[in-house]
Amino acid sequence: MPKIIVAIDGYSSCGKSTTAKQVAKQLNYAYIDTGAMYRAVTLFFIQNHISVSNPKEIQKVLSDIHITFRRHKVKGTNDTYLNGLNVEDEIRKMYVSEQVSTVSAVAEVRHALVAQQQRMGKTRGIVMDGRDIGTVVFPQAELKIFMTADPMIRAQRRQAELLEKGELIGLQEIAENLKMRDHIDTTRTESPLRQAEDAIYIDNSLMTLDEQVEMVVRLADEQI
Ligand code: C5P
Repeated sequence: MPKIIVAIDGYSSCGKSTTAKQVAKQLNYAYIDTGAMYRAVTLFFIQNHISVSNPKEIQKVLSDIHITFRRHKVKGTNDTYLNGLNVEDEIRKMYVSEQVSTVSAVAEVRHALVAQQQRMGKTRGIVMDGRDIGTVVFPQAELKIFMTADPMIRAQRRQAELLEKGELIGLQEIAENLKMRDHIDTTRTESPLRQAEDAIYIDNSLMTLDEQVEMVVRLADEQI
């Protein structure tokens, strides 16, 4: 059976990753969370005091950043590794969320990560989620989804996610972080977040996870 590329883009915390993970499982495809890659680079920049306003230094350190994904043997999760260290929990923390969109707007960072993402998709059979997958990384993807949800619902989902990891953050602070990230992501010069012309728009505010997964799997089946 031919394998396709499923590109899922959308605003922060709209449930893309949760849906994409389940869709990949049902299709028996690989799942790549590109947000995790930008978060890992951000963590590296924070830990190594790299300034976003120094492109020369950024270009130099990018070759020192190695991001991989590995399945957690006990939890079964697909964890993010930065230079061999599991950073899955660290990259989801608020201090990384506060910096990630600024780091993601840097052209050198995007060029390096987009190239790696394109290599990952060479064998096809992949579900990739992010902000520029259908527009820049895989403009030829057979199925493109553009996902969104009501901003308050997104903030509540993000709060629950953080709480599950032991971080208690007020709804207002989370809503402001999402708004700030959406603003930077949609207005940056380098591959801003926008809906690809041939993407299918899904507002999942009133949908259950199962309904979203079923819808995307059905749309994928139509392309296979
Ligand atoms: O998906 P997630 O919310 O974890 O992504 C974190 C941030 O990474 C986004 O707010 C955005 O700034 C950046 N990002 C991006 N391009 C992608 C994926 C994520 O710029 N393809």
